[in-house]
Amino acid sequence: MTAQVKTDRSTSDYQALDAAHHIHAFLDQKALNEEGPRVIVRGEGLALWDNDGKRYLDGMSGLWCTNLGYGRKDLAAAASQQLEQLPYYNMFFHTTHPAVVELSELLFSLLPGHYSHAIYTNSGSEANEVLIRTVRRYWQILGQPQKKIMIGRWNGYHGSTLGATALGGMKFMHDMGGVIPDVAHIDEPYWFAHEGDLTPAEFGLRAARQLEEKILELGAENVAAFVAEPFQGAGGMIFPPESYWPEIQRICRKYDVLLCADEVIGGFGRTGEWFAHQHFGFEPDTLSIAKGLTSGYIPMGGLILSKRMAQVLVEQGGVFAHGLTYSGHPVAAAVAIANLKALRDEGIVTQVKQDTGPYLQRCLREVFGNHPLIGEVQGTGLVAALQFAEDKSTRKRFANENDMAWRCRTIGFEEGLIIRSTLGRMIMAPALVAGKAEIDELVDKTRIAVDRTAREYGVL
Ligand SMILES: Cc1ncc(COP(=O)(O)O)c(C=O)c1O
Repeated sequence: MTAQVKTDRSTSDYQALDAAHHIHAFLDQKALNEEGPRVIVRGEGLALWDNDGKRYLDGMSGLWCTNLGYGRKDLAAAASQQLEQLPYYNMFFHTTHPAVVELSELLFSLLPGHYSHAIYTNSGSEANEVLIRTVRRYWQILGQPQKKIMIGRWNGYHGSTLGATALGGMKFMHDMGGVIPDVAHIDEPYWFAHEGDLTPAEFGLRAARQLEEKILELGAENVAAFVAEPFQGAGGMIFPPESYWPEIQRICRKYDVLLCADEVIGGFGRTGEWFAHQHFGFEPDTLSIAKGLTSGYIPMGGLILSKRMAQVLVEQGGVFAHGLTYSGHPVAAAVAIANLKALRDEGIVTQVKQDTGPYLQRCLREVFGNHPLIGEVQGTGLVAALQFAEDKSTRKRFANENDMAWRCRTIGFEEGLIIRSTLGRMIMAPALVAGKAEIDELVDKTRIAVDRTAREYGVL
């Protein structure tokens, strides 16, 4: 069979055509056009190749999504078979189809028992748009329409659409125009960045209690939900102290505020549990999911509802005035089924918890625990962050930490490694199928990139 998309042009041709017609995500387009993007043509396992044949170890699972790695024939076959059998049908005309029914059955067999319903979307951003509407509708049905304020966190990330941007706490995104009303924020639980001398446990409690203060300031009768990532991904893989989530849960329950976990990154095995909230030991009312649901092979997301919420919507809500053309898309659902079965039946999530996750964390701590550029190593399972710091003992950060981290990321690319930099932190999240040899390569190449950065900035 001839491939529809050929890879026979020169890199400069691809770059010129891309510059002529394509606006990229979160980049200065003019600067990118001058430099030219890398043209990625192929993937297998954790490896990617560019158009000039250079190999990269993908330490970021694409964008935290290729949980099964690249090149899975079973996922490709699931898509192709479904495309032939039923490529599309909608959920509007009193209809459903086997692919979405089977996906739900499988998904809820993997989720904790207190969840019962899903609203499917195409992405994580959409999952969070649906979250805002669903949560507000829930309180409306219960006769409390004024309970509509959503509380998020500064530096949280929930997507790039209007509502998701507002829920998130990226000020530079808010500044680009367009946030929605009735959204408030509290600080993130970023112990390394706090300027006092609280222990992590004390700091975790203090950070959580900001939620209580905010609820009291706004009036509990007006607050619909608190929304947060179990660990902050795009904000720098920030893991809260252990004291944080139990206190957040206590506060939400006390004031009858829904607790909504954004599991778009943390879901589907990343921490060694199926969902990140299970790792942190709390019970959210909703879960926003995407990315690892299909290992990124095809777009799909969703909002998972607790039985309590679903019962109100279904039994008392009447018409739920929401729908997307591609909700529960049969091809995406078929890929999701193949993906979830592989994660479960090949024991991949268990392997992350018992074997590869602890191995990555141990290796990182051995290599970077006393590195002169690194102040803190955080992470669990196959997700981790290295915090740059001038003085580890006082948590003093470099004034130019962003430049240093950006440089480290660029050196990584030169060395054939893809890791990401965020606010003075290097972050990584390799595919969950990573074996020990790939983890060794990831850690070795990261050490080379960090050492080179340290030398360039005179720290080593
Ligand atoms: C925690 C979190 N939520 C939501 C999103 C948005 O997902 P999408 O890019 O699929 O819209 C992201 C994307 O990185 C994310 O990290």
